[in-house]
Amino acid sequence: MNQPASSASTASQPRHFALIPAAGVGARMGAQIPKQYMPIAGKPMLRHALETFAAHARIAHTFVVVSAGDAWIDELVTPELASRATVLRVGGATRQESVFNGLNEIRHAAGDADWVLVHDAARPGLDAGLIDRLLDTLDGDEVGGLLALPVVDTLKRESAGGRSQETVPRAGLWAAQTPQMFRYALLQRALRQAAEQGRIGAITDDASAIEMLGLQPRLVEGSPRNLKVTLAQDAALAEFFLKG
Ligand code: CTP
Ligand code: MG
Repeated sequence: MNQPASSASTASQPRHFALIPAAGVGARMGAQIPKQYMPIAGKPMLRHALETFAAHARIAHTFVVVSAGDAWIDELVTPELASRATVLRVGGATRQESVFNGLNEIRHAAGDADWVLVHDAARPGLDAGLIDRLLDTLDGDEVGGLLALPVVDTLKRESAGGRSQETVPRAGLWAAQTPQMFRYALLQRALRQAAEQGRIGAITDDASAIEMLGLQPRLVEGSPRNLKVTLAQDAALAEFFLKG
């Protein structure tokens, strides 16, 4: 696979790399193949986000992390995509391990101050406008941040027996999406530290590793169309947004 042409960023102009963890099995989806390869709106789910990044002028290069024995990725990365995307067969046992392994693989391509946009393969609804909003909002930011949506539902805490014990105030609550965008060196340090402290299992997104360092990622408004396809019924909704 092709490697990005140049390997150093200038101090004034950090570059933006996309890193797509795609080494999951999609257990909750319950399909015959990993969900990232299920067809959705006419193409494999993963290809949607991959093409969005590849077509974006502000993304220097995209890396896709798959498991070592992945049988579908070579067919998915078409010749047109191959100059803009590189496959890394270093998937781990968890999403965070896959991200961490991927970061280590690209250490010769990315500079410490370059940005890495980590994006779930299972979010096919990402579009160029959302990428621009994230990049524009975080330009020059000290910490980095993530797309997220303010919670609009009334939230209930369940007691034993499936009854509502109380209403949880939703003020200030956001649902995390991806991309989550952090400087290369900071994200690598955050994930390494979480792993060393044995807390990697408590991490379900990249931002939580940053939070464990005592830093506060910026919340940037995402979009309902950027939903994560987790359960079988999510696929129809994602398709609705992609076709609309
Ligand atoms: N992922 C990964 N490596 C893993 C597990 C997950 O790269 N060991 C990726 C998935 O491929 C997906 C993203 O992380 O793009 C978000 O994870 P999730 O939606 O949970 O996908 P799966 O883990 O595949 O699904 P499930 O949890 O239902 O098995
Ligand atoms: Mg999972």
